[in-house]
Amino acid sequence: MDHFSVVIGLLVTIAVVLALAAVTIGSPIQRAGVDENRVYQEQVSERLRPFGRVVLTGEDTPSGQAAVVAAPAPVAAPLSGPQVFNQACNACHGPGVNGAPRLGDKADWATRLAQGEATVKKHALEGFQGAKGVMPAKGGFVDLSDEEVIAAVEYMLNESR
Ligand code: HEC
Repeated sequence: MDHFSVVIGLLVTIAVVLALAAVTIGSPIQRAGVDENRVYQEQVSERLRPFGRVVLTGEDTPSGQAAVVAAPAPVAAPLSGPQVFNQACNACHGPGVNGAPRLGDKADWATRLAQGEATVKKHALEGFQGAKGVMPAKGGFVDLSDEEVIAAVEYMLNESR
């Protein structure tokens, strides 16, 4: 062995020893530095954050608001006689368009009642062609229930007796 190989061998050994010493001393200190770095921790948990989370009723959401549950759609309450009249019938039966019997016109309603209240109601539900004009079925508001139309007829009759 010549001197050169011995020197190189020593230098390599020293380098390895120094590297091991650096790793042994440095790594716990560096780890601690990373572990205790709050900004870094927040960045990591932000990256690991799930896209969504199931929130049960009453439980707080991550944003701190109580979970809001959409109220079930209210079951539409049937309209009252006056409500139906104002929405669907008043346009014709208010001013008396095309000979529509006007609200409160006792004489006109009395003649119509002579054919029987059931027939009057049937005409309101199914529509009819009268001597003066056309009464469209349910006044043209086919979304109204039979009960609602009958309530409107009864309202008109009560106001016109
Ligand atoms: C587009 C106009 C129009 C609307 C809207 C309308 N009516 Fe009429 N209605 C008439 C006309 C016109 C007559 C009378 C026809 C005739 O006697 O020649 C009539 C007659 C009636 C009669 C008398 C039936 C009979 O046997 O003589 C009733 C009851 C009635 N309507 C109920 C209603 C109710 C209830 C509504 C609302 C849901 C309504 N109408 C909406 C035009 C309308």
